[in-house]
Amino acid sequence: HHHRGREDGCLTMTAPAIVLDCDPGIDDAFAIFCALRHTELLALTTVDGNVDVENTTRNARYLLDLAGAPSVPVHRGASRPIRSTSQHARQVHGPSGLGLVDVPDVAAPEAATSAVDALLALSERDGLMVVATGPLTNLALAIEQDRSFADRVGPVHWMGGAIDAGNVTATAEFNSWHDADAVEVCLRAGLELTTYGLDLTRQVRMGTHHTAALRRKRSRTAILAADLLDYYEAHGTQDGLGQPMHDPCAVLGVTHPQLFSYERAPIVVSTQAETRGQTTIASADDSSAGSITLARSVDADAVITEIMRAAEHPLANG
Ligand code: BDR
Ligand code: CA
Repeated sequence: HHHRGREDGCLTMTAPAIVLDCDPGIDDAFAIFCALRHTELLALTTVDGNVDVENTTRNARYLLDLAGAPSVPVHRGASRPIRSTSQHARQVHGPSGLGLVDVPDVAAPEAATSAVDALLALSERDGLMVVATGPLTNLALAIEQDRSFADRVGPVHWMGGAIDAGNVTATAEFNSWHDADAVEVCLRAGLELTTYGLDLTRQVRMGTHHTAALRRKRSRTAILAADLLDYYEAHGTQDGLGQPMHDPCAVLGVTHPQLFSYERAPIVVSTQAETRGQTTIASADDSSAGSITLARSVDADAVITEIMRAAEHPLANG
């Protein structure tokens, strides 16, 4: 249990201190709400991914403002992958990255320091965790700028990769594909990585009845969440099961690990054109593989309940 300061008999635990590295992004927005509710959110760092970094940064600031947390700093990150050009996902996330929302510029300014500088500085802090819900570009740049970062930084929980089928190509997941070189840098540096890949996040589906329930809640964030989910549903695969809610899984893996099961595996990523971004479980003696933890199964109903609560009241504890 992770209730904080509630008199309901639960053990009181301190919320984990995290940095959320993200590219909002519809499902990233839900991840931000989950992080506000359940973590000590030290900062958001933004990255080029679903849309360009100008938009992901504006969206991040807007989402924090809407949620009533304008003082969480937003550090702008990389504007393109480390060694390739970017290809966005506007067909999934809409022209602004937040569906059809015409995202306003909010009063709280962007932080003066870059995402990489913020990650390097915050990694000095004991017990820091990083949750990454976009391409791993900022983390790879931090590693390339300062090799000791990989040892210093705490556990990194990342939504990315796919062991079975991909979503952007037959074999690759979007975050992994968008900056496969960055994934490779992170694996080789020996980051303490836990991944929430498509095999897992496809089990967490939200669709029209969640939208309807959110609309009835009437909070500002719930109404935005309903609008985002409507767009996501209309532009996703129509199999009647709703759309996969990828990114909140990586946040809830940190805050509610009891809802997931994990397995250790050596992982490699492809940087070849044909299979770019494909992640595979390597043989145990493959020295290029990074040994990581894979989230393998999830209590989807419980995770969705937490996502709904966080979207309704991102600042409530428990
Ligand atoms: C991932 O790619 C992005 O489009 C989503 O925000 C999520 O992080 C899913 O493949
Ligand atoms: Ca994302």
